[in-house]
Amino acid sequence: MINIETIISEALDKINKADIAFLEALKSEYLGKNGVLTQILKSLSEYSVEEKKKIGSEANKAKNAIEEAVEKRKDLLNKAALDKKLKKEKLDYSQAFYFPFSKGTLHPVLKTIEDISDVFKSLGFSVAEGPEIENDWYNFEALNIPADHPARDTQDTFYLDGLKNLLRTHTSPGQIHAMEKQEPPIKVIVPGRVYRNEASDASHSSTFHQIEGLAVGENITFADLKNTLAKFVHQFFGNDLSIRFRPSYFQFTEPSAEMDMQCFFCKGKGCRVCKNSGWIETLGCGMVHPNVLKSVNYDPEKYTGYAFGIGVERITMLKYGIDDIRLFYENDLKFLKQFNG
Ligand code: DAH
Repeated sequence: MINIETIISEALDKINKADIAFLEALKSEYLGKNGVLTQILKSLSEYSVEEKKKIGSEANKAKNAIEEAVEKRKDLLNKAALDKKLKKEKLDYSQAFYFPFSKGTLHPVLKTIEDISDVFKSLGFSVAEGPEIENDWYNFEALNIPADHPARDTQDTFYLDGLKNLLRTHTSPGQIHAMEKQEPPIKVIVPGRVYRNEASDASHSSTFHQIEGLAVGENITFADLKNTLAKFVHQFFGNDLSIRFRPSYFQFTEPSAEMDMQCFFCKGKGCRVCKNSGWIETLGCGMVHPNVLKSVNYDPEKYTGYAFGIGVERITMLKYGIDDIRLFYENDLKFLKQFNG
């Protein structure tokens, strides 16, 4: 008579000592096609009905017990293997402080925008933004540049949707948006990206940045403009620098001027930076043209104002001695990392 009890206890004994590779072999030794228990079940026909029943049910119980033991052992071994692996891989978070972290930096153009904004904020200006996609009214018409005016040719405009919309060619439309939103007094700067359809070289780029400035109120004069711009130059470039104004022409200002500052590098003596002139062309400015005030329904008899436009890349190049505007757009880390802090 077959002793199934013995078979089970032998099998469990082997299973509980087996490693993961041996487990599968054991499983087929007992339960496989030619396994011990399969053989027993196959040979049942040799037995009487009573015996068949008894042996059959015992063999099935044994099969279940062995299957269960194999699965249990497998779980146990897998868990132990995982524990061992995790212990080896355990992360020590305190080590994170020793990683060579590299510090992120502001892009020099953005840094200049922030630094200049800080100066004007300290002078009572608020900071606004306008859309980069404008229409003819905001970019030209409201700024006293009518259709067919030759000044439009100088702007090298990128038009969108036929001639309806365009990429703003300057931040001056920001003046119109600001005045539409509120009544005077108004003191605002509008930094942003502008677009010109022109070839790029060391000093030109089809995308660059400007900061528009606008102040409108009662009794605002050119002296206020001069005072504001002198403070900007002193805070941004150096306390002791003189400024001067040369007559110029912009459609949206009357009178218009170019402002120069004394060369901050040689203090006016003449050097490579100022091309030996002692002066550096810094920005365009003027008194807001009455037609511009009219376009936003401000009364030009009651209000006056001044405006200015700063080229951000130009100022950044001057300040840091950068001689090619294209460096700003190439994302070369060696260049960008110099503007730490
Ligand atoms: N919008 C002019 C440009 O893109 C810059 C400018 C000049 C803005 C004089 C002004 C200004 O507000 O008064 O070239």
